[in-house]
Amino acid sequence: MLTLQSGFAFDYTNLYGEGKIIAADISGLAGRIAAAHAAVEHMRASGEIRGHLSKDGTPEKVLFSQLPYVAAGNLNSPESIARLKAFGASLRHHADAVIHFGIGGSYLGNRVIFDAHCGEFWNSRTPEERGGYPELYFSGNNIDPLRTGDLIGHILAAARAKTPYRLVLVVVSKSGGTLDTMSNFLVVYHALRQAPGLEISVVAVTDPAEGANATLLKKLARENAWTTFAVPDGIGGRFSVFSEVGLVTAACVGFDIDAFLAGARAMDEACRQADPWTNPALLSAVLKYLAAANHGRNIEVFMPYADRLKAVAEWYIQLLAESLGKRTDRQGREVLYGRTPVVAVGTTDMHAQTQQHQDGPRDKIVQFLRIAAWDRDPVIPAAFPAARQLTDLAGLRMSQALDVALDANAEALARDSRFSAVYHLPRLSAFHLGELLYLLALAVAYEGELADVDAFDQPGVEAYKRIMAPKLEALKHSGR
Ligand code: PA5
Repeated sequence: MLTLQSGFAFDYTNLYGEGKIIAADISGLAGRIAAAHAAVEHMRASGEIRGHLSKDGTPEKVLFSQLPYVAAGNLNSPESIARLKAFGASLRHHADAVIHFGIGGSYLGNRVIFDAHCGEFWNSRTPEERGGYPELYFSGNNIDPLRTGDLIGHILAAARAKTPYRLVLVVVSKSGGTLDTMSNFLVVYHALRQAPGLEISVVAVTDPAEGANATLLKKLARENAWTTFAVPDGIGGRFSVFSEVGLVTAACVGFDIDAFLAGARAMDEACRQADPWTNPALLSAVLKYLAAANHGRNIEVFMPYADRLKAVAEWYIQLLAESLGKRTDRQGREVLYGRTPVVAVGTTDMHAQTQQHQDGPRDKIVQFLRIAAWDRDPVIPAAFPAARQLTDLAGLRMSQALDVALDANAEALARDSRFSAVYHLPRLSAFHLGELLYLLALAVAYEGELADVDAFDQPGVEAYKRIMAPKLEALKHSGR
């Protein structure tokens, strides 16, 4: 177990030892580990990653490791953070609802922040119970006509019940023209803008380039005098949760931006050593790389034991799949690299997926996420004293039952030579969430180096886009 000062811990017991990764595997990889460490140090200092090119084939910086550090001239500066907080304060006791439009990296981190901070019932609470912050809805993360219609109907009904109803549309798109995001935004904006009693404002979060390089969204923002925030150069979607992309949602719901960035910073500082045994991101990357290379563990299940953290697993799916799922290495040789990510939630999926984890092929690493102390933690009561099986549970806290379930799952897997690991969060807080997300992001950067693949491009998602664009064009001109 590698435990940080904050109490955050990475328990690799079920990845390391006899029948699993052993010391000789790690010493055999020593040269590559040292090179991966040096490459990530170089990235931190210069933003350069060997061989990384942008979509248009030109060298592109990788700057996500700068985001935790708030300083003049950095991507997050004291001024930019103050502006985000002022935006949040302007919504408080003023806006009724926010709709966030975005997909992929322009959505998933926002969902993590919303779920972790707000939980499932935020939008059913009174404004007072929400501390004056608005309701928040997501759209654009699918092109689903029915759900978009439902959302419009819901907002129109709310506006009939309360006039004026103040709605903020936050449109997040780095490229500024993504079909899924923009189609939803256009439909919702058009349906609501002239509705009686509705006051709509729009916020655009996009590439800040001006002039000829301005995105479509940026141009619209300028023409319509919308507030803008930036998706900075050098920050890919899946690494953007610590930039204005994720922090806009944080501001909308009163999530602690300072603590979130402080957690990321603490993790960055804890991951500076070349020795993997003292660097949790490097250790996690090395163990998982070896588990795949030497033991065929090519599937990675991410299984938080917390409903509010299911979105972390969804965010991680994108991070792992887009970063490490690569056809070629940086020499252009076909390697078909990467583990297939799977979302699971404890205890829910112990009644579903666990059957396959336990008895299916030995091709998985199950990564558990445990919260040590819960803010609310009911005791299971002896409500029906005559029911013996139920009274056996009585007196236990729900978190104790949850912990036993996680431990039992890990033990059953380990007894059958199945690999797992546990990330321990002392509490579900902005600080520890920052630590966790940053660790996972840094771990894929290290693994990109170990596997010699570009962890920062995503050429595979261009393949369908090349097919889709002319099809859309043809459809538009067919008059259907
Ligand atoms: O990681 C990525 O690059 C993608 O998932 C993008 O975030 C996603 O396609 C959305 O792109 P955009 O922000 O340009 O709308």
